[in-house]
Amino acid sequence: MLDSLKEKVVSIIEQKSDVTSCLQGICELLKKDVPYYDWVGFYFRNGEKEELKLGPYAGEPTDHTIIPFGKGICGQVALSNQNFVVPDVNAQDNYIACSITVKAEIVIPLFVNGENIGQIDIDSNTPNPFTKDDERFLEFVTVEVAKIL
Ligand code: SME
Repeated sequence: MLDSLKEKVVSIIEQKSDVTSCLQGICELLKKDVPYYDWVGFYFRNGEKEELKLGPYAGEPTDHTIIPFGKGICGQVALSNQNFVVPDVNAQDNYIACSITVKAEIVIPLFVNGENIGQIDIDSNTPNPFTKDDERFLEFVTVEVAKIL
């Protein structure tokens, strides 16, 4: 299923003229087509500040539009440059809850010229849903998106 979505991601990037509508289209596609992706969004470094700012997303609005580096799963990925897969958010100390329905989260950093400039963040209402296939697929998405940033 994830592999068949790669083509659709590439086609969104080819068809849309501006970056924001590409990112919005990708968020909506992923949320709609992957049953256990319940919230899909991009965060980007906020200028030179040590914080992330919410970009396009699909799902419920969140209060967490700014996340300081180091805070929550997203803020930790901003510093670690590593994928962060959380099978059970309740087992995490450094976690920012967006909704009580969320059970699991995956965050994949996005690199441009080797620099960690943002990330794709996915929340799931299903416990422990993410596998290596999600990591590989979302890495593909970040690489494709990096080409237009
Ligand atoms: N749960 C994230 C915050 C962002 S929301 O999931 C949209 C975190 O701990 O960083």
